[in-house]
Amino acid sequence: MRCKVCLEHAVVDIRRHNAAFCGPHLLDHIRNQVARAIKEFKMFGHDDRLLVAASGGKDSLALWDILLALGYDATGFYLSLGIGGYSSRSRKAAEDFAASRGAKLIVRSLEDEHGYTVPELAQLTGRVPCSGCGLNKRYEFNRAALEEGFDVLVTGHNLDDEVATLFGNVLHWNIDMLGRQAPVLEERVLGGDAGTPPALVRKVKPLVRVAERESAAYALVAGIDYIVEECPMVDGNTQHLYKEAITLIEESSPGTKHQMYFGFLKRAAHHFADQQDDAVVVACTNCGAPTVAGGPADPVCSFCKTKALAHHRRDQGVTPRRPARRRRSR
Ligand code: FES
Ligand code: ZN
Ligand code: ZN
Repeated sequence: MRCKVCLEHAVVDIRRHNAAFCGPHLLDHIRNQVARAIKEFKMFGHDDRLLVAASGGKDSLALWDILLALGYDATGFYLSLGIGGYSSRSRKAAEDFAASRGAKLIVRSLEDEHGYTVPELAQLTGRVPCSGCGLNKRYEFNRAALEEGFDVLVTGHNLDDEVATLFGNVLHWNIDMLGRQAPVLEERVLGGDAGTPPALVRKVKPLVRVAERESAAYALVAGIDYIVEECPMVDGNTQHLYKEAITLIEESSPGTKHQMYFGFLKRAAHHFADQQDDAVVVACTNCGAPTVAGGPADPVCSFCKTKALAHHRRDQGVTPRRPARRRRSR
């Protein structure tokens, strides 16, 4: 296997591009794919201040590295979820990366900000950990971006992530979610009032042209010491099942993932886009954060409702224990 560019020994082949690359040319190739996504979807410019959600995993650290290499003003944001040793190791990976690149990293923790960890929240509310985790991440990422004056929130969702989400949304005909599945979610202002500051920061996914295996190869070649282990709370997560199923098809038919995702964006996404545009964003009457108006005159956001439930249960004496791990269904 030879590098497509220099004919030296290749370290990875990318069958959907019918190409293989040596280390240095793999870095070039992936950076070009990211630069192309940024341009194609008009994600941001060099004057924008970017906040990168850095989990310590391969995707977010590879993306942060690429943005720095492309000359963007990119600061990392690590949110500690309080998931035991997993959280301390992932935090260290994010901190070590920031130190190695001379980049700035903002660190916050759910425990300090709200008085609970993800495992405690799951136990107190009786909901699966990933649901409370996702809700808290979305809330905290947006809050941090606005408080710290960033223009854009950047996340490391790769092609596999987007295809698995799309697959799940289609399987369940989750129309609302299909309307929100885009590489760019524009900023939103309260009540739709143009000219007022954003309440929901612009969100972008520059890795949509990069598959999971490619971002892992990038991280290895770039010498990024990322956390390899997965979150111990995601056992049984259907997203994994979808990823495996689509990867199986991709192996015998390279290009399937790309075709499914970009075909959706080109030919079908506009049918669902109204779902997103019609929703009016209003201020939560409890915390002031943006929430989508669903009808009540006095809306409280889902984050505040969940947090109130957790604290209420704790006041009632419910003891948080580590939630039982679900068996992965096969
Ligand atoms: Fe959210 Fe594991 S990262 S539950
Ligand atoms: Zn080469
Ligand atoms: Zn609220």
